[in-house]
Amino acid sequence: MQRILVTGGSGYIGSHICVELLTSGFQAVVVDNLSNSNREAIRRVETIAEQSVDFIQGDILDESLLRRVLEDYNIDAVVHLAGLKAVGESVSHPLRYYDNNVAGSRSLLQAMDAVGLKKIVFSSSATVYGNPSINPVAESAALNPTNPYGRSKLFVEEMLADLASSDDDWHVAVLRYFNPVGAHHSGLIGEDPLDTPNNLMPYVSKVAAGKLERLSVFGDDYSTRDGTGVRDYIHVVDLAKGHLAALNSLSTGTGVDVYNLGTGTGYSVLEVIREFVEAAGHDIPYGVVARRPGDIAECYADPGKAERELGWRAQLGLAAMCEDAWRWQRNNPEGFQ
Ligand code: NAD
Ligand code: WQD
Repeated sequence: MQRILVTGGSGYIGSHICVELLTSGFQAVVVDNLSNSNREAIRRVETIAEQSVDFIQGDILDESLLRRVLEDYNIDAVVHLAGLKAVGESVSHPLRYYDNNVAGSRSLLQAMDAVGLKKIVFSSSATVYGNPSINPVAESAALNPTNPYGRSKLFVEEMLADLASSDDDWHVAVLRYFNPVGAHHSGLIGEDPLDTPNNLMPYVSKVAAGKLERLSVFGDDYSTRDGTGVRDYIHVVDLAKGHLAALNSLSTGTGVDVYNLGTGTGYSVLEVIREFVEAAGHDIPYGVVARRPGDIAECYADPGKAERELGWRAQLGLAAMCEDAWRWQRNNPEGFQ
């Protein structure tokens, strides 16, 4: 049985990846410092998969801890999600991002190199494209992140590319996620933001649940079909399955392979609200306000490369994303608390 180290495995996306790993015959070992997640998420993963996860509370900046984990658990490959992800915070506290995301990744790669484990799947983001000039966005599009968070992702991508060109033994899959949303169908795990959410879907969920008063739609004067921003929302379970496809491809891959993980379809803010109203069965108060600084009009993926090379394609549509997000919200009004 292959043993996979999942850094950041108790977080939103990591917990869903752990479920897919366990139910596909892998063993999951998680290292997470719980800076943005709850230990309860791992217990819920174990309930869903009816298998246990080896959980180690620790920081990826702790290189000697990582070395010990890689050796003690005889790890076969790493899925690396640990990091900070708030764009606004990255602008006000850039060093936190260069430390956690860039130095943290360097520490992990150093530990892997030291023990001779050279297979990794890395969580990157469509944010590395910045404001794409053409949609759908292919992996070959220009990379032009516009904030420290996005740059931290790009720097790690470049670090991985340098490593792979220095040593043929490295097998790397870089996954550029578009907009992950939704939750596991069981309603047991989902996104649990510690503060008021910045992202659309968790915000809509909390308004639908009456925990926030109303949604602000950031601008309706973009050159999109209804004037509101268009994004490629992808169900987190589809996203998690993309990691398994990437893991399975690692040994046959060529150094570094980069894949967009998106559905290929863009939805506007108003379309998301309408679908969420359907899922929740009642109205969601919203009003249009000014554009959010730094936002772009439109961004959706060309996911063709992942389909051709990994045999992976997103299966779940916007209705399932909203229904599953709503089930998670309704069943867990206080999140994991
Ligand atoms: P999350 O915050 O829920 O998960 C990240 C996990 O990493 C958390 O459990 C946190 O406690 C842990 N962590 C942070 N710093 C750490 C450190 N130094 N050592 C150990 N653990 C640490 O976020 P998520 O949405 O699950 O995102 C997972 C990854 O995917 C991140 O790298 C993120 O940048 C990337 N990503 C997320 C999105 C998105 O919209 N959610 C989009 C693109 C890429
Ligand atoms: C989606 C749309 C908003 C909130 C961010 C990061 C990106 C990635 C995913 C990690 C936009 C609109 C939002 C609200 C709104 N994360 N909106 N009212 O901005 O595409 O991407 O998360 O890698 O790096 O930048 O996602 O969910 O914040 O916004 O009208 O209260 O919803 O303007 O059009 P975004 P989002």
